[in-house]
Amino acid sequence: MRRKTEAQTSTNERANADKKDPNHRIQSQTEAKGRVSCGSVLMNIGKCLLLIIIIPPFLNYASLQREGQMLLPKDGQIVDVGLGQKMHLLCKGKGRPVVVLDGPAGMSSDIWIHVQESVATLTKVCTYDRMGLGFSKRLMQNETTGTEKVWGMSTTGRMVDDLHRLLQAAGIAKPFILVGSELGALNSRFYSHIHDVQVSDLVLIDPIPEDIFEDDQWKAYWYGKLLPSLQARQFSAATGLSRMLIILGAIEPMIKGENVSEEVIQRQKYLLSNPAHQSSAVDEHYFLNESAAQVRDITKFKPLSSRMSVSVITGDSFDEQIPTHLNQMVEKLQKKFLEESYPSANHIHIKGADWRMIYKKPSAISQHLKRLVNQRQARQQSE
Ligand SMILES: *[C@@H]1O[C@H](CO)[C@@H](O)[C@H](O)[C@H]1NC(C)=O
Ligand SMILES: *[C@@H]1O[C@H](CO)[C@@H](O)[C@H](O)[C@H]1NC(C)=O
Ligand SMILES: *[C@@H]1O[C@H](CO)[C@@H](O)[C@H](O)[C@H]1NC(C)=O
Repeated sequence: MRRKTEAQTSTNERANADKKDPNHRIQSQTEAKGRVSCGSVLMNIGKCLLLIIIIPPFLNYASLQREGQMLLPKDGQIVDVGLGQKMHLLCKGKGRPVVVLDGPAGMSSDIWIHVQESVATLTKVCTYDRMGLGFSKRLMQNETTGTEKVWGMSTTGRMVDDLHRLLQAAGIAKPFILVGSELGALNSRFYSHIHDVQVSDLVLIDPIPEDIFEDDQWKAYWYGKLLPSLQARQFSAATGLSRMLIILGAIEPMIKGENVSEEVIQRQKYLLSNPAHQSSAVDEHYFLNESAAQVRDITKFKPLSSRMSVSVITGDSFDEQIPTHLNQMVEKLQKKFLEESYPSANHIHIKGADWRMIYKKPSAISQHLKRLVNQRQARQQSE
């Protein structure tokens, strides 16, 4: 009995001691935790913010370096065009006359994939990235070619000077068929008026009327709506947000569908997350009023040679995503400048299309281009 009690007491004591001790420990632990957790929460928030701010742009930048090398199109050439500039030229097919394609503001050469592939069955078709877009590097502030002093940075005069040197350096056969869409149509007009012996046929797809920036509603749309959305896209690319949104599926490439290769999809994603490309897209839009004014002046100053054929391709509207009154205004001004400057132009209307026809309804465009190529080839043979 006694032994038993002793034993019981000792276990009780031990139990009591154990009970007391843990209480102590828990208490002091919670106190410590309270102090630590307050600080550590703040630390963690700080760390998280730091991660959110630093990691995505860093990862984005590292990925862009890798992708930039991987995604250069297989047939693409990087051509040294002189004055320290290198540009990306992408030619497909063989034969003459060569067809040269110049795209809308802010677009890389990928926008022409369908048209280029189709026409390349007949002749050589070349497209390129304007300076700063796609795979044509943007120039640094300290790297000036002298031409921007004359024309300003991202304007038609400057772009035409680049294109002229590119075609020269790449040894593109002349005369060629020059095709431009939107800003590309301003460039093609400027090119054709200045270097008229080099161009046999001028094709304008959804040309921007040169007087459009005199309209206040258009200016309000362009500088008040379109430009801020492009600037937001540039910011989103620079912070790495675009890359995250692409991974989450919240942003999608513009050109997609069953006939668009995985490589083209990847390339568009690369350009969406590429701040240099996006920033050049902003510049081209920002200076479009200057570009239009330059083209208006050159058109008045130096008319086209009468040997050059001009055709104009338009859809039902300029851009189906903008209000009707703006589209009607573009249409009215298009008619006016075409009648004044190119009265004998051949008009082609594509039903149910806007400027996106280049990749959404490419067959109507390639049919027309093939017809022009066939005509020139027949003439070459008969000579
Ligand atoms: C321009 O500056 C960059 C670095 O800031 C330098 O690498 C490059 O060589 C410079 N280019 C010229 C033409 O001075
Ligand atoms: C894809 O290409 C095929 C063959 O060239 C054509 O028949 C089909 O209409 C194209 N599909 C789309 C969505 O453009
Ligand atoms: C183009 O727009 C800018 C900013 O609105 C303005 O400063 C410039 O004078 C305009 N240029 C022309 C040719 O209208």
